Amino acid sequence: MGVMGFASASVFSSKLAAFLVLGLVLNLGLVCNGGKTSTFVRKVEKTVDMPLESDVFKAPHGYNAPEQVHITQGDQLGKAVIVSWVTVDEPGSSKVLYWSANSKKKTAVGKFYTYKYYNYSSPYIHHATVRNLEYNTKYYYEVGIGHTKRQFWFVTPPAVGPDVPYTFGLIGDLGQSFDSNKTLTHYELNPQKGQTVLFVGDLSYADNYPNHDNHRWDSWGRFVERSVAYQPWIWTAGNHELDFAPEIGETKPFKPYTHRYHVPYKASGSTSPLWYSIKRASSHIIVLSSYSAYGKYTPQYKWLEEELPKVNRNETPWLIVLVHSPWYNSYNYHYMEGETMRVMFEAWFVKYKVDVVFAGHVHAYERSERVSNIAYNVINGICSPVKDQSAPVYITIGDGGNLEGLATNMTEPQPAYSAYREASFGHATFDIKNRTHAYYSWHRNQDGYAVQADSMWFFNRYYHPVDDSTSAQS
Ligand SMILES: [Fe+2]
Repeated sequence: MGVMGFASASVFSSKLAAFLVLGLVLNLGLVCNGGKTSTFVRKVEKTVDMPLESDVFKAPHGYNAPEQVHITQGDQLGKAVIVSWVTVDEPGSSKVLYWSANSKKKTAVGKFYTYKYYNYSSPYIHHATVRNLEYNTKYYYEVGIGHTKRQFWFVTPPAVGPDVPYTFGLIGDLGQSFDSNKTLTHYELNPQKGQTVLFVGDLSYADNYPNHDNHRWDSWGRFVERSVAYQPWIWTAGNHELDFAPEIGETKPFKPYTHRYHVPYKASGSTSPLWYSIKRASSHIIVLSSYSAYGKYTPQYKWLEEELPKVNRNETPWLIVLVHSPWYNSYNYHYMEGETMRVMFEAWFVKYKVDVVFAGHVHAYERSERVSNIAYNVINGICSPVKDQSAPVYITIGDGGNLEGLATNMTEPQPAYSAYREASFGHATFDIKNRTHAYYSWHRNQDGYAVQADSMWFFNRYYHPVDDSTSAQS
C-alpha cells in the first residue's frame, strides 16, 4: 500500500511539474510575442449588403424632402458646422435655419452641387456652413425650407482647452451590409456615448457595384443619417473613395466623395480636402490621405511638415492622427501597404509625440504596442520595430462591417509590435478625461452594448509619458 501510494504520488508530482513547465513555456511564448490574439470565436456568416428596399435606406416623405443629412466640423476650433443634405426633385433652397434655446432663429446660406459619374447624374447636394456658434450649446436646425422641412439638432463641443473631457467614437470601413447596421447600432447604444465620430475611411463601397453604381452612395447617406445628422463625423478618405475607373471614362479620383462630403480643410491651411486638421475639445486631430502623394516636396508632405510644429500641447494635449491604410498591421491583408507613408512620416510622429494613430482598411481589429522603426538607413541593417515611449499606439479599426467581409488570416507568430488582434466587426471609443488620461475601449458587435472586448488607459505622451502598455498596466 505504502509503496503504491508513493509511486502514484510521484507520478502525480512529475505530471504537475510537466504541467507547470509547459505553462511557463506557453507564458514565455506569449511574452516573447508581446501580444494577444483573441480566442473569441465569432459566427461566420456571409456579409451581404442590405437590399435597397430596406427600412434604413427609406427616403423621407414629402416633395423635395432633404435626405442624407450630415454634419461635420466647419472650422479649426469647433465654432462652425458644415451642414450637408441632398434634394432629389429640384434644387430647392440651400438655406439652413438654426437656433438654440437662448438665441433667435438665424439663417446660413450654402450652395448646391451636382456631378455626373458614367451614366449616373447626382441629385442636388447642398453644403452650408453655420458659423459663430456658442460652445457647449445644443442647436436645432432645419433644412428643406420652402418645400418639406426637416428638423435635427447637434451639440457644439466645449471650448478648446487642455483638460476638457470629450468622447470620440471610432468607426472605419463601414459599408452598408447587415453587419454595418449592427456596428452603427452598437455605437449608438454604447453607454460611453460618443460625441463625435472619427471615421477612418471607406464609406459606402458603392464602387463594388457595376459601374460604381452611385445610387449606393445615396443609400449610404440615408443609412447613416440617423447618427451623422446629430453629431459630426470627421472624414478620412479611403481607397473606396477613389472611384477611379478609366474603363468607363471616370479619371478624376475622389469625385463622388469630394462632392458629397465637405471638410474644413482651408481652415488648417491645407490645399486639399483629403488632408487637414481640426481642434476639438482637448485634441488636435490630423487627417491624412493614404491615396494622395506624400513624398518629399508634395503638397501633403509640405502641409504636414508645417502642421506638426503648430500643434500646441498646452492647448490641445492629445495629438491624434487618422489615416486609412495602417502602418503596423499583422494581418495577411493589405500587409505593408502603409509602408511607404510610414517611411516618410514616422520619424515626425515620434518627434512630435503623437498619442495615437487610427487606421482602417484591414477589415479586422488590432492594437499595437508603442513602437517605432525609424533607425534604418539602407546600410545599417537596423530594420526591426523597437519599443519606443515617444511613439504612438497604432490602432486598426477597419472592422465596420462592409460587404467584403472580415480579414481573418494573420501573420504567425504574432509579431512583438502587435498587442491585441481579433477578426471581429466592431467600433471603439476614445474617452479623454483630462490632459494626462484617456480611456480607450473596443466593442465587438457580437457582445452586449456595454461589453469592452479590448481596452487601454492611454497616458498622454506630452504630460504623462510613462509606459502605458496593457502589459505594463496589468
Ligand atoms: Fe480600404
